[in-house]
Amino acid sequence: MQKYKKANDIKVGVVGYGGAFNMGKQHLQQMLAAGMTPLAVTEVDAGRLVAARADFPGIETYPTVGAMLKKSRVDLVVIITPHNTHAQLTLQCLRAGRHVVCEKPLAITTAEVDAMIAAAKKSGVILSTYHNRHWDGCILEAVERIKKQKVIGDIIRIECHMGGYNLPRDWWRSSRTVSGGILYDWGVHLLEYSLQLIDAELTEVSGFSHHGFWAPLTKWKKDTIEDEGFAVVRFKGGQWLTLAISSIDSKPKDGRLEITGTKGTYVLDGNDHTIYRHADGEAVTVKKNNRADATHKYYENVRDHLVKGKPLTITGEWSRRPIHILDLAVRSAKAGKALTVKYV
Ligand SMILES: NC(=O)c1ccc[n+]([C@@H]2O[C@H](COP(=O)([O-])OP(=O)(O)OC[C@H]3O[C@@H](n4cnc5c(N)ncnc54)[C@H](O)[C@@H]3O)[C@@H](O)[C@H]2O)c1
Repeated sequence: MQKYKKANDIKVGVVGYGGAFNMGKQHLQQMLAAGMTPLAVTEVDAGRLVAARADFPGIETYPTVGAMLKKSRVDLVVIITPHNTHAQLTLQCLRAGRHVVCEKPLAITTAEVDAMIAAAKKSGVILSTYHNRHWDGCILEAVERIKKQKVIGDIIRIECHMGGYNLPRDWWRSSRTVSGGILYDWGVHLLEYSLQLIDAELTEVSGFSHHGFWAPLTKWKKDTIEDEGFAVVRFKGGQWLTLAISSIDSKPKDGRLEITGTKGTYVLDGNDHTIYRHADGEAVTVKKNNRADATHKYYENVRDHLVKGKPLTITGEWSRRPIHILDLAVRSAKAGKALTVKYV
């Protein structure tokens, strides 16, 4: 793999400069803050290229990835487009010998991820997923308290949940074909949190879904995402995990993750965490703030990998695990039976 002498030798570009969350601008700013050099923006929407030129005067702009790969000397490309385009755009850049960071979810199917990992290896470049939430204060706090301080003993189960009672919005995230389904947006973050806490191998996934309540009322009709998606994951160590993402749950859920161990339960939310334990027969509840987010560490790690050869934290292989769970959950829901996990 090509090593760079210093961070600003790494010329970076983004594919997708969407307006929903201004993610293209955020990525370029974060890479700039890590010392890399913004060089190019590719967008199919010409209006968004105007916005990119206003944000980064002098930046190269391209209407297609093909045009960018042909003309630009960009070393590292970040894919920030709708989910069903991730695999094809990433493969195109990897095969052209460029390093790729792809937004979450890395892809929709395991087969796509396996092809991406193989293409990166063949070209001798890196493949990473922008799992920025790996450095959220809530999970940094939980890893310290649960894995290092053992405040709840050994983990028995993790319950991940998010949702409420909401008609899916008129955007691509509400299309099952484009997004992959209701589990693929926040679900991939919650799984990535959980897989930091349970080290054991995955063994089996059961998926469940309800579809069709909101569909007639949305612009996507039958292609609308599920009303609710649910998965049960088994681990080799005997632990299990449940994931529920719902738009049809009238009881809004407290917290993002509830982790139950042999000596207590840890409820993790965006801002704080609560630990429920028993001491001398009495129930004891302690609620504290989480530490601060450290999102900047994502691109610092990518930079340190490319410049100093330090280990890459979010590898293609790491990102494969949550995608494999999501892929199996969707297929299992259709098949009506549990499916076995496959490692490569
Ligand atoms: N990590 C996070 O916290 C986080 C937050 C928000 C979004 N995201 C992810 O970012 C990605 C994009 O989401 P968004 O909210 O920015 O969507 P968006 O709709 O605002 O932007 C997507 C952009 O991609 C462009 N595009 C589509 N196909 C293209 C192609 N072939 N070539 C070039 N441009 C193309 C569209 O024109 C659009 O402007 C998704 O994977 C989403 O899950 C991640």
